[in-house]
Amino acid sequence: MRTIERVADVRAFSRAARRAGRTVGLVPTMGALHAGHLALIRAMVRRTDAVAVSVFVNPTQFAPGEDLDRYPRDLDADRRLAEEAGAHVLFAPPVEEIYPVEPGVWVDPGEPGRILEGAARPTHFRGVLTVVTKLLNAVEPDWVAFGQKDAQQAVLVRRLIDDLLLPVRMWVGPTVRDPDGLALSSRNAYLDAAGRRAAPELYRSLLVGRQLLEAGERRAGEIAARVRARLAATGVLRPDYVAVVAASDLSPVDPVAGRVLLLAAAVLGGVRLIDNLCLEVRGDRVAPSEL
Ligand code: PAJ
Repeated sequence: MRTIERVADVRAFSRAARRAGRTVGLVPTMGALHAGHLALIRAMVRRTDAVAVSVFVNPTQFAPGEDLDRYPRDLDADRRLAEEAGAHVLFAPPVEEIYPVEPGVWVDPGEPGRILEGAARPTHFRGVLTVVTKLLNAVEPDWVAFGQKDAQQAVLVRRLIDDLLLPVRMWVGPTVRDPDGLALSSRNAYLDAAGRRAAPELYRSLLVGRQLLEAGERRAGEIAARVRARLAATGVLRPDYVAVVAASDLSPVDPVAGRVLLLAAAVLGGVRLIDNLCLEVRGDRVAPSEL
């Protein structure tokens, strides 16, 4: 596996692969790779011939006062893990390579970027879509992979690709969880022992919402309120938002029907955790679905 720092070099790698008749896959990450990232890398290894993993802690998606400075970084471990998972290139550019000047042009997601995560982090998705556009233009992949773990991000990136006619196909991989249900996240490293024990309550609270749907409840507000109450009852997780929305465009659905996302964010000991379930609701049937 090669480590590449320059846009020109990663683009040359990608173009050479394509000239040789090979397809190129990209997995954008901020590093501190875990089994969730590795599943995306393996999915790209199965689908494409040359896989690049980008590791770039993108400053523009962090607001002042967020965790940019303490975000976990371990490039040597990332290199080893990406290689074991079958990646061909680790693209780890320095900040000046991606942002040679302060961005003047932004990719703004509009209203769907200002709800849910975007309500708490108003400039977050503008930073995400801007850097994803830059990474796609640097690597020029045939396929790009994202995780359902960050469902709003995945929906907004799909919209970016569709709305701007970007010539790339998108794969969304299922959320990888620890055995107790906690969705893997680089930020789980911030949890202390007690926080780590309490954290799976976020997933369990979402399962309460699924059970309500399975029992026939279709009022979005009632489901959200019950999940929120379950979170609050833990005494340690402070709920931020709980919502049921259409999986296609994050618009409200009430009564709940079709492919929906049940999403929640909560703060646990200063650490913000997010999780979601994607469900297909057809008549009285409720089944897990893909994003
Ligand atoms: P990061 O948080 O490092 O996540 C990189 C990719 O891994 C994202 O697509 C994310 O949804 C996916 N991922 C994270 N945890 C996962 C899990 N438990 N199961 C499955 N997939 C998981 O998301 C970002 O970085 C950044 O916003 C980025 C897209 C790289 C832009 O800077």
